[in-house]
Amino acid sequence: MSAQIILPRVLQIGAGASQMVGRIVKELECQRPLIVTDKMMVTLGYVARIQESLAEQAISSDVFDDTVPEPTVVSIEAGVTAVRDGNYDCIIALGGGSPIDSAKAIGILGKYGGVMRDYKFPRVVTEPGLPIIAIPTTAGTGSEATRFTIITDESNDEKMLCAGIAFMPTVALVDYELTLSLPPRTTADTGIDALTHAMEAYVSKKASPYSDTQAIAAMRLLGPNLRRVFHDGGDREAREAMMLGSTLAGVAFSNASVALVHGMSRPIGALYHVPHGLSNAMLLPAVTEFSISACQQRYAQCARAMGVAASEDDDDTANTKLMSELYALNRELNVPTAEEFGIDREHFLSNLELMAEQALASGSPGNNPRVPSKDEIVEIYRQLW
Ligand SMILES: [Fe+2]
Repeated sequence: MSAQIILPRVLQIGAGASQMVGRIVKELECQRPLIVTDKMMVTLGYVARIQESLAEQAISSDVFDDTVPEPTVVSIEAGVTAVRDGNYDCIIALGGGSPIDSAKAIGILGKYGGVMRDYKFPRVVTEPGLPIIAIPTTAGTGSEATRFTIITDESNDEKMLCAGIAFMPTVALVDYELTLSLPPRTTADTGIDALTHAMEAYVSKKASPYSDTQAIAAMRLLGPNLRRVFHDGGDREAREAMMLGSTLAGVAFSNASVALVHGMSRPIGALYHVPHGLSNAMLLPAVTEFSISACQQRYAQCARAMGVAASEDDDDTANTKLMSELYALNRELNVPTAEEFGIDREHFLSNLELMAEQALASGSPGNNPRVPSKDEIVEIYRQLW
C-alpha cells in the first residue's frame, strides 16, 4: 500500500526566514497580498517587518488583524468579506495556529463562498484557494505544514475539523527568531501540542514509513528542548530545535493523523475555552496510559526518541519511563488541572456524554492504536478530576 504525502511547495527554515517573504511573494508572481494576523503581531512590530520586506519588492499589502484565539465562524467573517471584495492574489498568514487556521478558512470561503460547515470533515476539500504563505510565531501547532484547519461553530460549540490539500499552505517560512519573545505559558502549551502531534502521528493507525521518519525526528528535537525553552525563552539553540521539531511534527500528523488526545481535546477547548495545547497536556498522560498496551513497541520508541529512555531499555522499561516523563513534564511546565484552570466540575461532568460524542464524531479516536468506546472516553474524561 502506498501513502500520499502532501507538503508545502516551499519550506524556508532558519533564522531570518520570515524576512524572505517579499522575495517569495514575487517568485509566486503575486502582487496583492492580504496579511491575516492578530493585534499582538501588530504590537510586536512583526507585521511592520513583513510589510517592509514586501515594500523592498515594491509590493503593497493590506492587513486583517482581527483573528482570535481558537477561531470561530463569526471571527473570520470580516476576513472572508475582505478577500471576496478585495482582489487579493495571496494571503500571508502570520502568527500562532489561530491566525494561520483563520487564514486557511478565509482563503477558501473568500474564493468559493458557502459556510464553513460545508467544508467540514469527512468532506475532503481539494479546490485551490488563494496561495497561503504561512509564517508561524509559535512552536507550535504545525499549521504551516498541515492540510487541516479547525474552526469553531459557536452556535453549537463544535470545533469543526476541515481537511484537504486546499488547506495546505503553498509556502511556510519557519523562523525561530519569531518565537524568542514568547512567554513561558504559551511556549509550554504550544510545545506540548507539538510533542503530542509527533507522538500521535507515530502511534496512529494511519502512520506510514514516511510519517514515521518525520515523527521520530520531531520527537528527537522536541523532547530534550521543551523544558529548556520554558525556563529560558532566549535559548536560541533550543528555540531553533523546537521550531523545526514543531514543523516536522506538523508534517508527520498531516500525513498520518492525530488520535485520541486531539479527539478528546477539541470538545474541552470548545466548551471551556481551554487553549488547545493546554487541553492536550491535561489529557496526554491519561490517554497514553489507556493506549499504551495496544502499541507497546511504538510508545517505547517515542520514549527513546524523546531521550527519556535509553536505547538498551526494553519496551516495558521504556514505557514506564515514558509515563513518568509525561506526568513530570506537566508538573514542571505548570500545566493546571481542569479544576485549577477553573472549569466547573459539575458542569463538566454533566457534559461527558456530549463531549464523548463530539470526540468520536471527529474521527480522531478511530486512528488511535486502542480504539475507545464512548464509555471508555467518558471514563478518561472523568480521570481529569
Ligand atoms: Fe494540536
